[in-house]
Amino acid sequence: MCGIVGYIGNHEAAPFLLDGMSKLEYRGYDSAGIAVYENNSIRVEKCVGRLDALRQKLADNMPVGNVGIGHTRWATHGRPSDRNAHPHTDSSGKFVVVHNGIIENYLGLKEELIAKGHEFLSETDSEVVAHLMADQYDGDFEETVKKVLKLIKGSYSLVFMCEYEPDKIICTKKDNPLIIGLGEGENFIASDIPAIINHTRRTFIMSDGEIATVTADGVWVQDINGTPISKKVFVVNWNAEAAEKGGFEHFMLKEIYEQPKALRDTMTSRLDAAAKTIGFPELNWTAEELREINKIFIVACGTAYHAGIVGKYYLEQLARVPVEVDIASEFRYRDPLVDGNSLTIVISQSGETSDTLAALREAKRLGSRTLAVTNVVGSSIAREADQVVYTYAGPEIAVASTKAYTTQLLAMLMLAIYVGRLRGSMSAEREQELVRGLTFVPEQIHKMLENVDQIKVFAREYGSSEDAFFLGRSLDYAVALEGALKLKEISYIHAEAYAAGELKHGTLALIVSGVPVIVLATQMDVYDKTVSNLQEVKAREAVVIAIGFEGDTSLEKYADHVIYIPRTDKYLAPLMAVLPLQLLAYYAALTRGCDVDKPRNLAKSVTVE
Ligand code: F6R
Repeated sequence: MCGIVGYIGNHEAAPFLLDGMSKLEYRGYDSAGIAVYENNSIRVEKCVGRLDALRQKLADNMPVGNVGIGHTRWATHGRPSDRNAHPHTDSSGKFVVVHNGIIENYLGLKEELIAKGHEFLSETDSEVVAHLMADQYDGDFEETVKKVLKLIKGSYSLVFMCEYEPDKIICTKKDNPLIIGLGEGENFIASDIPAIINHTRRTFIMSDGEIATVTADGVWVQDINGTPISKKVFVVNWNAEAAEKGGFEHFMLKEIYEQPKALRDTMTSRLDAAAKTIGFPELNWTAEELREINKIFIVACGTAYHAGIVGKYYLEQLARVPVEVDIASEFRYRDPLVDGNSLTIVISQSGETSDTLAALREAKRLGSRTLAVTNVVGSSIAREADQVVYTYAGPEIAVASTKAYTTQLLAMLMLAIYVGRLRGSMSAEREQELVRGLTFVPEQIHKMLENVDQIKVFAREYGSSEDAFFLGRSLDYAVALEGALKLKEISYIHAEAYAAGELKHGTLALIVSGVPVIVLATQMDVYDKTVSNLQEVKAREAVVIAIGFEGDTSLEKYADHVIYIPRTDKYLAPLMAVLPLQLLAYYAALTRGCDVDKPRNLAKSVTVE
């Protein structure tokens, strides 16, 4: 996820670009840059850090010109640095591009271009596009863009400038957002509406495969074959703050709805849908090395710790390696039995949580190999771990983690499958089955998110409760832990998660008439036992909301309400079962008038011990 802007018209470009980028910083903020057509050439200015660093750099020497593009970056390929910041140019500097997304086939293209004499300055996938433009240019800017689009694979919004044709900007998109703002004698390009809303409210949204040529006087849209496309212009009536959340009331809800894309982005490049296999091009493990590992430690905090508990089930059952899961703040003080045959996996959305970082350092000191699963490229944890697997959830702004959690589950599942195959503990058929199931998950979640009315009703009905309980066995228990954390942190309802079989050893005393109990029943190997536990709480007059697979109508006999999720493999169920729990927490918090995105006493990144 990155933020993109473009301007062409009768005013100075740079002030619009910087203002627009500030409205898009929620899309990424590790580096920023602009390119402006100034004195017959394109001047590029960029630097690592937040937008303010770029503003300071330009304070006494702002580029002057009426055409420009800008970018605020969320690193995916190549750590945050001046060189990796966008815009990128070809070696001559005549072609300039900003990119949001991932060019999947960039490595092969880069090699071909290097063989032709192109010199690359960055480690990004995006730079290859600028060089391709130079390589393919035949005197016609638009036609060259079309040729380049035929060569690249992946997801993108791309905005191009060409020094030979400075009276236009060209942009296009696939699987990443891009909008056009229409002004008087000026036009605007952006990843999202907040960037343009102070300048125009007339806009249209680009669809995949469309190519727009934007000049000061108009915008022409065509497809790759040159067929003109007419676009429906609409007038934005949101205020600027609402626009930043893409029309959602809170960042948390927006991020819940971003999960299909976050999962898709995290799968891309690791999942071969045709061969139905999982690979991690970024990991250079050998089968032999993996067989040497006799224990895995998973260390994390909060939601990431809950993802680690799910990861334990995955790794033990699919890769047949013993796993211990630790809360990071406990790990380093408990003298863990970690050694050279251990692998320590730390999970952290931010990559900056100080307890997790300290645990990583402790594991390294004890001689363990280390792997970070993190969402932030170039973060401290990513830098210090031996190896990194990135989740591509994009920036998570709401304090309560949602899309980072589901991408962590996905990363752990893919890792377990991968390690399982390399260690020879998993059959090719089982891998294929799981991969096939995984490819459906983003769309299944997308469909679930289209119908949440039932959850809103439950949240209103039970939102005034003071206590709630979450029960499940096996993987359902791991997900229950996350459901309880979500509810307590944003709605302030006291919530506890229990392994369903453990309840009768004490906590059953708290189950009284009217207490809401959420029972997860997606794990068929323990289903009957879970249903027995459900009946135990029902007998104490709890109000039971069960979560089960579509078609499992027998749950309706025992529970007061049932929320259905798509029927799927037991290992994929957590990815979907957590969704109603996130939404339940969100709508309960709303009912109680809580500050959903910034719950009391909490911070997004906890960099103190
Ligand atoms: C809860 C939540 C926190 C974080 C925890 C670890 O919704 O977000 O529990 O999961 O503070 O943060 P990271 O993953 O950044 O290390």
